Amino acid sequence: MKELVLIIRPEKLETVKQILDNYNCGGMTISSVMGCGTQKGFANADGSINEIKGFKTTINLLPKIRVEVVVHDEKVEEIITEIRDLVATGRVGDGKIFIRNIEDAVRIRTGERGNKAL
Ligand SMILES: Nc1ncnc2c1ncn2[C@@H]1O[C@H](COP(=O)(O)OP(=O)(O)OP(=O)(O)O)[C@@H](O)[C@H]1O
Ligand SMILES: [Mg+2]
Repeated sequence: MKELVLIIRPEKLETVKQILDNYNCGGMTISSVMGCGTQKGFANADGSINEIKGFKTTINLLPKIRVEVVVHDEKVEEIITEIRDLVATGRVGDGKIFIRNIEDAVRIRTGERGNKAL
């Protein structure tokens, strides 16, 4: 099993929910977060960098959505491809996908383990 941690633009949440639902992922966890990438949060919609005069901090945090989903190993590449196809705008700030190994899972109600618990 792998956990995909997606950091996406808020307006792409519905698209991502739909993709994960189509893959019968079993579940997902969504949070509202703040973050920045290599532009340190200073970027216009067209991708150009802002100069904010008198702004004391060097890092600006932008609202993002974090999606956590644990999936079967064999689904990982397909899901990543589909998410990139539908979520990439080509502009800075499209987000990231982090992938982690998951050792085990337990469905608390039944005690099922591993893939069966997803
Ligand atoms: N290395 C990182 N560690 C943790 N979170 C990150 C990292 N990079 C990006 N993020 C999260 O992803 C969000 C979107 O990042 P973003 O897409 O701007 O990355 P980027 O590396 O700047 O790529 P791009 O140049 O396409 O904008 C950030 O606001 C932050 O929440
Ligand atoms: Mg960026």
